Amino acid sequence: MTVANLTLNDGARIPQVGFGVWQLPDARAPEVIGHALNSGYRHIDTAHAYNNEEGVGIAVRESGLPRDDIFVTSKLWNMFHGRDATMKAFDGTMQRLGLETLDMYLIHWPVPMEDKYVESWKAMIELRDAGRIKSIGVSNFNQDHLQRLIDETGVVPVVNQIELHPRFQQRAARDYHEKMGIRIESWSPLGQGNIIDDPVLKSIAAKHGKGVGQVILRWHVEQGLVVIPRSKTPKHIDENLQVFDFALDAGDMEQIAGMDRADGRIGPVPTELGVVNLPPKE
Ligand SMILES: NC(=O)c1ccc[n+]([C@@H]2O[C@H](COP(=O)([O-])OP(=O)(O)OC[C@H]3O[C@@H](n4cnc5c(N)ncnc54)[C@H](OP(=O)(O)O)[C@@H]3O)[C@@H](O)[C@H]2O)c1
Repeated sequence: MTVANLTLNDGARIPQVGFGVWQLPDARAPEVIGHALNSGYRHIDTAHAYNNEEGVGIAVRESGLPRDDIFVTSKLWNMFHGRDATMKAFDGTMQRLGLETLDMYLIHWPVPMEDKYVESWKAMIELRDAGRIKSIGVSNFNQDHLQRLIDETGVVPVVNQIELHPRFQQRAARDYHEKMGIRIESWSPLGQGNIIDDPVLKSIAAKHGKGVGQVILRWHVEQGLVVIPRSKTPKHIDENLQVFDFALDAGDMEQIAGMDRADGRIGPVPTELGVVNLPPKE
């Protein structure tokens, strides 16, 4: 199945469906990501805090695919905001990945109480200009944080990776991102699997002869969102890429729009997450 590529505001192209690897133990990463690459994924979303950058690098190197064919994202962890700490953390990420260049590096959370995300952003601009990173972006930033980066550096992030799924649709944030040319990447696109039993989604899936996961991912794709589902189950890994051979109709879209909930957030409130130690490696 051919996966659509979207163009970022710096001209780079990103596969619209990527493979999320949060909670994938490093030791299992080569096998699981190897399966995903065989299945056709060409975009992997990791982070320093996922403790599996080494396994990601092994999977990429052992895939036999040309390096330029795989879009690899990693993220700067909250403990390492500030210029020098960002430079050092990035070096560590590249050592663990064992790659020469990174396709995209994101500031994982803004950590506004530390007020150092602009410094980190400037370091990332330096790394991009030195050719070590192709594209730079952020994650979990609100409009004020994004605007501050733009006002203070003139560099617009290519993406903002935020929690987004049918129960938490982030409608209020969409216009600003579109106006500024910042692509939204949906994290927890499947609501961490909690919405797979939803009756509305089940009936839409039955109508199209598709799985519920596929209907949810198609809903993201049709709205121009980049999506990074996670799975350790080979059948789900394969299915989650098969979302370019059917379309949702206006009625389906309206029903899913009705699933949005003010209290639908699963993850942390982005302005409240501070410096958190790296989780211990499994
Ligand atoms: N930037 C951030 O702060 C942030 C935060 C959270 C996540 N993320 C990124 O977003 C990625 C995805 O989000 P997520 O890991 O929270 O969860 P998710 O992708 O929304 O959901 C994953 C869960 O859904 C299940 N699943 C996957 N495909 C399925 C299918 N076709 N049918 C039924 N169940 C299915 C998986 O179980 P099986 O393994 O059994 O398939 C797993 O339990 C992460 O891996 C990470 O890369 C970023």
